[in-house]
Amino acid sequence: MDSVDDPALHQQRSWDANVDAWTRSVRDHRIPSRRAGTDRAVVDATLQSTARRVLDLGCGEGWLARALAARGIEVVGIDASARLIAAAKALGGATFTAITYDQLMRTDHLQPFDAVVANFALLDEDVDTPLRAARARLRSRGTLIVQTVHPWIARGDRPYEDGWRVETFAGFGEGFREPMPWYFRTLSSWAAAIADAGFRVDRWNEPMHPDTGMPLSLLISASRVDDAPRG
Ligand SMILES: C[S@@+](CC[C@H](N)C(=O)[O-])C[C@H]1O[C@@H](n2cnc3c(N)ncnc32)[C@H](O)[C@@H]1O
Repeated sequence: MDSVDDPALHQQRSWDANVDAWTRSVRDHRIPSRRAGTDRAVVDATLQSTARRVLDLGCGEGWLARALAARGIEVVGIDASARLIAAAKALGGATFTAITYDQLMRTDHLQPFDAVVANFALLDEDVDTPLRAARARLRSRGTLIVQTVHPWIARGDRPYEDGWRVETFAGFGEGFREPMPWYFRTLSSWAAAIADAGFRVDRWNEPMHPDTGMPLSLLISASRVDDAPRG
């Protein structure tokens, strides 16, 4: 199937095409919502979990893995983009591996993690595969932390229903070569996906913009339920 017909495939290609622009954007702190609080929020949530060993799911160029490792946490970052993983390894600070969520599900050489963190990294219609892969890599009652766009803000003027959207990276700095298809999810859709994959939500956080008072993101902290997931 061609990437025009398959938004998930198109999305993966866009990460490879945009690797330089994305890496610059993150490392130069060009993304306003990250500066305003989402970076701090995901680091704080992970530290609050008291995890000593963390898997950074969809780690990109590796900023979060490095930030957590600098606080004494052992971190493994995985990402589908070999070029982003190369950028992460160039700065080091944690262990980085180029594998997809699907491959992670079938990997058995990783020791269990205390926490799995996905920072703006669950972007496909199929969110069940990465959530189940996260569950499989977690110790009993381990923590899942997902930060994603806030549905009520990200909805814009479109209907409040799940569906594919397109990120143009406007306002993230120059040099982005490919727009990125991503899958919008309502709050109830997130709640169902997380429960179905075998987690219990402990906390819904909504980090706020300090000036506008609008939510910057949705930050979900959940625990691995040790019974088998549904389905
Ligand atoms: C918006 S970026 C976020 C990167 C990083 N978490 C951060 O906070 O800067 C999303 C990342 O998820 C990765 N990703 C998306 N789908 C993936 C998949 N199926 N397997 C592995 N990585 C994936 C992309 O390659 C990309 O690096």
